[in-house]
Amino acid sequence: MHPSPNSEVYRFPEYYALGYRWNTEAECDFLEACLRAHGPKGGRRVLDIGCGSGRHLLTLAKRGYEGTGVDRSPEMIEFVRQQARRESLAATVAVDDLVRLRIRGTYDLAFCLMDTFRFLLTTDNILAHLRTVAGLLAPGGLYVTDFWVPRQWNTMGDELYQWEQTEGETTVRVFYLQHPESVDPIAQTFEDELVFEVERNGERQTIRGGRTLTRLIMPQEFQALVAGSGAFELLSMHGTFELEKPLDAGSLSWRMISVLRKQVGG
Ligand SMILES: C[S@@+](CC[C@H](N)C(=O)[O-])C[C@H]1O[C@@H](n2cnc3c(N)ncnc32)[C@H](O)[C@@H]1O
Repeated sequence: MHPSPNSEVYRFPEYYALGYRWNTEAECDFLEACLRAHGPKGGRRVLDIGCGSGRHLLTLAKRGYEGTGVDRSPEMIEFVRQQARRESLAATVAVDDLVRLRIRGTYDLAFCLMDTFRFLLTTDNILAHLRTVAGLLAPGGLYVTDFWVPRQWNTMGDELYQWEQTEGETTVRVFYLQHPESVDPIAQTFEDELVFEVERNGERQTIRGGRTLTRLIMPQEFQALVAGSGAFELLSMHGTFELEKPLDAGSLSWRMISVLRKQVGG
């Protein structure tokens, strides 16, 4: 079975938006705290790379930021466009691929949240992506990444997470699973999968995302990649969306969050 280029679940932005809404405000607080602590003074231009249903982009737009979002999924982009129009928010969106970004402009803060960064499958792709993003940032601009890292070496590529969210008559149950037999220890890739179980007005629907190929990036490796890019300095790493709490083995969650600042001349 070949992995698909993008999960089928991303063709259902409304369900994604509900299923993933749980920590959005706190994540946006973190992004704002990064800008205040380390970003260009008064910086308000933000770029959401792999914006999905626009949960961060639209929340930041409501808080007065000028938002631009890109995503590979046309369904997600259309959903965000309609939401922004409905709520008269300053957000522009475009279909784009994080492997070779075509978006232009200058931003004070870029971010790539909830595992999207791991769609950069090769070291060359990661380095090229970092350099491209740095080119889109104002002097001193920030880039915040957030992706899964294993907490135990013996569960690498063999983890399962599930949660659910309900609004009115709709419940979305999200399953994130990894397929250990697909692990390629040399390329450091494996296949993972999202499944949505949706209950709406008493009807149940299962949406299987299909397998997608993703990259494993370990913390020490990420530090070396950032340094090797010559484009960014790594300011801090976290296991939760709390700027004052640095990454340590105790706080490390399934999401490793890193704050990068554009190097002078980067
Ligand atoms: C797990 S979602 C994260 C969305 C959003 N960042 C969030 O935090 O909710 C991953 C998103 O990445 C997008 N995506 C997958 N591959 C991509 C690529 N190569 N370039 C741009 N977006 C991609 C998917 O369409 C999906 O919307």
